[in-house]
Amino acid sequence: MATRYSSILLLLSFLLLLNIQGTASRLNSFYDSVIRLPSESESSENDEAGGGTRWAVLIAGSSGYGNYRHQADVCHAYQLLRKGGLKEENIVVFMYDDIANNELNPRPGIIINHPQGQDVYAGVPKDYTGENVTTHNLYAVILGDKSKVKGGSGKVINSKPDDRIFIYYADHGGPGVLGMPNTPILYAMDFIDVLKKKHASGGYKKMVIYVEACESGSIFEGIMPKDMNIYVTTASNAQEASWGTYCPGMDPSPPPDYITCLGDLYSVAWMEDSETHNLKRESVQQQYQSVKERTSNMNNYELGSHVMEYGDTQVKPEKLYLYHGFDPATVNLPPLNARLEAPTMGVVNQRDADLFFMWQLYKRSSEDEPEKKRDIMNQIAEITKHRNHLDSSMKLIGVFLFGPAKNSVLESVREPGLPLVDDWTCLKSMVRVFETHCGSLTQYGMKHMRAFANICNSGVSKASMEEACIVACSGYDVGQLRPSNLGYSA
Ligand SMILES: *[C@@H]1O[C@H](CO)[C@@H](O)[C@H](O)[C@H]1NC(C)=O
Repeated sequence: MATRYSSILLLLSFLLLLNIQGTASRLNSFYDSVIRLPSESESSENDEAGGGTRWAVLIAGSSGYGNYRHQADVCHAYQLLRKGGLKEENIVVFMYDDIANNELNPRPGIIINHPQGQDVYAGVPKDYTGENVTTHNLYAVILGDKSKVKGGSGKVINSKPDDRIFIYYADHGGPGVLGMPNTPILYAMDFIDVLKKKHASGGYKKMVIYVEACESGSIFEGIMPKDMNIYVTTASNAQEASWGTYCPGMDPSPPPDYITCLGDLYSVAWMEDSETHNLKRESVQQQYQSVKERTSNMNNYELGSHVMEYGDTQVKPEKLYLYHGFDPATVNLPPLNARLEAPTMGVVNQRDADLFFMWQLYKRSSEDEPEKKRDIMNQIAEITKHRNHLDSSMKLIGVFLFGPAKNSVLESVREPGLPLVDDWTCLKSMVRVFETHCGSLTQYGMKHMRAFANICNSGVSKASMEEACIVACSGYDVGQLRPSNLGYSA
C-alpha cells in the first residue's frame, strides 16, 4: 500500500510540475481522476465541521469610495461563505456601508469584486455599519460578549469548544496597526490579547485568520502564540505594502465607468482560489501555497508582496471546508490549481491608492465644470501637503531625538521574530503626543508606526518626545486633519 501511495504521489508531483510549466489543460481530466485518493473520498467526510459550528467575522476597516475594494472584498467573502453553507446567524460583518449607494458608484446598489463579477452586496447583513464599525465592537464580537457591544445588530461569536472560527480582515495598515473607519485603530497587542482571552475561555476548537493590509505581518510577528490552535496568514510581511488590484487603467481593469480599484491582490487570490476548488479536498496549507504564489505577482516583489504565516501550523493539514464551507457545485473541481492561468496582475500600492483614486476622479471630471475640477485639485493638494508634513515632521523629530547622523534609528527594522515594539502602551502614548501637536496620522501616516515604535524601543521619554513634536510642528496649520475632528488613532 505504502509504495502504491508514494508512486501516486510521485506521479502527482510530476503532473504538478508539468502544470506549472503551462501544459495544464490537456492533462486536467486525467489529473482530476488521479487525485481522488481513497483517503480523500467525500463519503468519508462529514458535512458538519466535526460536529461543531462554523463561525466567521468579516471586517472591512476603511470607508470612502476610494477604498471601494475593501468592502467589495468583504461582501465577496460573505457570499462565498454563504454558498459554502455557513448560516447568516454565524457570520458577523463589519463594514462602513458607504459604497453601494455612493454617488460615484456607476451601478447603484451593486458592488462587484471582479471586472466581470456579479453583485456581491445583496443580502450582506448590516451587523456593524457606519459609526458602529469600531475596534471596541470587534473585540466584544470575537469574545461573544453581547453586553459590551455598543450599537449594531448585537450579533456576536457565541461559539462553543467544538466550533471553528474564520476571521478575515481587509484594509490599510501600518507597522503594528490595522485601520478602522472610526478611531481608535487596531493595535496588534490588543488584538492578540483578545485571541488569548478567547482561547482561555475555551471558545473554539480551531481558528484561521486571514489579514490583508500593508505591513500586516507586523500584527503577528514576535507576538502570536503558536499554541492556541490559531493559524494566520497575512498579505504581506512586517515591512512591505500590500496591493490593490482590478484598478482603472491596469490589466485586468474594471469596467470603464469605475474610477476605483475593485479588489486587493491577496484577497482576490484566496477567494478566487476557494471558489474554483473542491474545499473538501483542498487543505489550508495548499491554499496558503497558491495564494502566496499569486500574491507575489509571479515573484515580482516590486508589484506584489510576501504572504506570511503565523501561529499554530498544526491547523494547516485541515481541509478548507471546515472554515469556508463546501459549495456542492464545486464537487468535481480539483483540490489544487489545475488551471493556473495566473497572469501578472496590474496593481497599485495600497498606500497610494487614495491619491490614485482622486487623480482618476480629477482626470474624468468634465471640463464643463471647472469649479468641481478645481475642488478635486484642492483636495489632492491638501492630501499631498499633509503627507509631506507628516513625513518631514517625523524626520525632524528623528533629528531632535537622535541627532542628524543617526536618523536611520526611526527606520531601523528589527530581526524577524522580534515584535515591532516591546512596550505597546508606550507606542500608543507616543502616537497621541504626536497627533496632539502635529495633526492626525490619517490612513497614510500609519506607515510611521515603526518610527514611534523605535522611539519607544530606544527609551525616549514622553517629555522629550513632546518637546520634539512641539518644535517640529509649530507653525504648521493642519486644517481639518486634527484629532479634535478625527479622534485619536490611539
Ligand atoms: C449603530 O447602531 C445603532 C443601534 O443599533 C443604530 O441605531 C444606528 O443606526 C447604527 N448606526 C449605523 C450608522 O448603522
